[in-house]
Amino acid sequence: MTEPLFEVEDLTMTLRAGHGKTILRSVSVGASAGEAIGLIGESGAGKSTTARALLGMTPPEAAVHGTVRVLGTDVLSLRRSRLQRFRAENVALIAQDPRASVNPMHGIEVFLTEAMRANRNLSKAEARRRAAEALEQVGLDPEKVLRSYPHEVSGGMLQRVVIAAAVAVEPRLLIADEPSTALDVTSQATVISLLRRVARRTGAGLVLVTHNIEVAASVCDRLVVMRAGSVVETGTTDQVLHRPLAEYTRALIEATRAVSGATDRDDFPGNATESAHA
Ligand SMILES: Nc1ncnc2c1ncn2[C@@H]1O[C@H](COP(=O)(O)OP(=O)(O)OP(=O)(O)O)[C@@H](O)[C@H]1O
Ligand SMILES: [Mg+2]
Repeated sequence: MTEPLFEVEDLTMTLRAGHGKTILRSVSVGASAGEAIGLIGESGAGKSTTARALLGMTPPEAAVHGTVRVLGTDVLSLRRSRLQRFRAENVALIAQDPRASVNPMHGIEVFLTEAMRANRNLSKAEARRRAAEALEQVGLDPEKVLRSYPHEVSGGMLQRVVIAAAVAVEPRLLIADEPSTALDVTSQATVISLLRRVARRTGAGLVLVTHNIEVAASVCDRLVVMRAGSVVETGTTDQVLHRPLAEYTRALIEATRAVSGATDRDDFPGNATESAHA
């Protein structure tokens, strides 16, 4: 058995205010090192809440039961400063809108190097070298991009810059919450497969949060289907996609196919075997 990357066990969150709504209901999800997990389900299912719990973040107004261990550390019980340190060293979050992650007043070089310098205690030259390497990994021209400001590059390029920033700190776990909804479908597919490749290359695990089962299936080893705060189904991508157990999963697959217009099974490769060198 490979070392567990994370283990969410029986995680329940209930809002204290209002009617005491339960937003997560006994959620259990785990992954081993290097695995890619897709969290899928409709809006409000609890995908982002589950992903944020892996960062040790819970809504302040929620009563929380259950445990979340990342690399063996119980992240929900860490004090703020220890948690920030743990996160900086081990986990990177790629947010939905790349423009929201960068400071428009600073050049891309500053954006890429400041976290590395702060968390890894690197010299300016070493941080710049690593930033250039990370930009190359995501297919960008380091010399050009390092000299640019965020407004000078396209949304697609900026999304790659954000991915480069995430991998530059060499996290054990990458969390991407709808990483590309701001992009068109083709760029979205490109960004997500890029994310998977860099995760593989660095040996990082990946949690991909998306509405789109087709997108998740194209890069993830396993899928976790959520609805209304509960996990309705979990299994290998192949199982969930081709032999779904839950009626809800079947409906989700149908809905995705209807939207994408895809009927060819080749569009649903469930490819846990994408080549590692690309
Ligand atoms: N901080 C919070 N305060 C109050 N309610 C919250 C908070 N965070 C999440 N919720 C509620 O918890 C439920 C799950 O939200 P969550 O954001 O995890 O869903 P999601 O699956 O990520 O949805 P989406 O696909 O729309 O992003 C929703 O009903 C949401 O309104
Ligand atoms: Mg969400």
